[in-house]
Amino acid sequence: MLEVDKIDVSYGEVPALRQVSLRVEKGTIVSIAGANGAGKSTLLKTIVGYLTPRSGVVRLNGETISGLPAYQIARKRIALVPEGRGLFSDMTVEENLALGAYSVPDRGVIAKRRAWVYELFPRLSERSAQVSGTLSGGEQQLLAIGRGLMSGPEILMLDEPSLGVMPSFVDRIFEVLGEIRKSGTTILLVEQNVDRSLRMADYAYILQTGEVVLEGKGEALLKNDMVRHAFLGLA
Ligand SMILES: Nc1ncnc2c1ncn2[C@@H]1O[C@H](COP(=O)(O)OP(=O)(O)O)[C@@H](O)[C@H]1O
Ligand SMILES: [Mg+2]
Repeated sequence: MLEVDKIDVSYGEVPALRQVSLRVEKGTIVSIAGANGAGKSTLLKTIVGYLTPRSGVVRLNGETISGLPAYQIARKRIALVPEGRGLFSDMTVEENLALGAYSVPDRGVIAKRRAWVYELFPRLSERSAQVSGTLSGGEQQLLAIGRGLMSGPEILMLDEPSLGVMPSFVDRIFEVLGEIRKSGTTILLVEQNVDRSLRMADYAYILQTGEVVLEGKGEALLKNDMVRHAFLGLA
């Protein structure tokens, strides 16, 4: 279980997160929804150790991980699929996937995972020798997710996976998240696409200007007046 306990995070003197707490239970999908600038990416970057909280603690299975360097946190089977995907555009699909498994010593394990990723994403399998920069936005997002899976994460975190993806392809991305969860991987999903992400989530948090303003089951939040007005544009 991942637990964020009352963290404060700032950029210089400018606060970005205030007293943010959340829990991600094993095997669930938890969504963080909120407008642009709410602090969603900051939260994920803090969990993986790119940023250090000024106060508060991040725990994984009871062990404090905040304060550890990012490379040590990465070994604890938390993977981040970053906003903008972070692929190497001159490298092929296959090479990008291999990079996701750089810390995995066992070639057999790597081969098995690659086969699973190609089974999840037949499109990538067909394009395994293609340079990733020439893939569509949606295909690149699938590749970024595939690369995250290659490390064998217990928790997969995704920052805005639907951003820059054709609407017709967004369905596929969300379907894939369902399949990954079925495989036993826990998912922490950050999205501006509040409607979709709440529908998918077992539990969700709404972040507004650096604070958690609401939390609950995804379905319940979809019916919440504040969420309907502020995020779904409904009366
Ligand atoms: N590298 C940075 N330096 C200074 N301020 C930043 C930096 N990154 C983000 N911020 C600020 O922190 C706040 C939260 O940003 P962010 O976590 O990126 O929000 P979100 O991902 O929800 O859009 C915003 O006010 C943003 O301008
Ligand atoms: Mg962001």
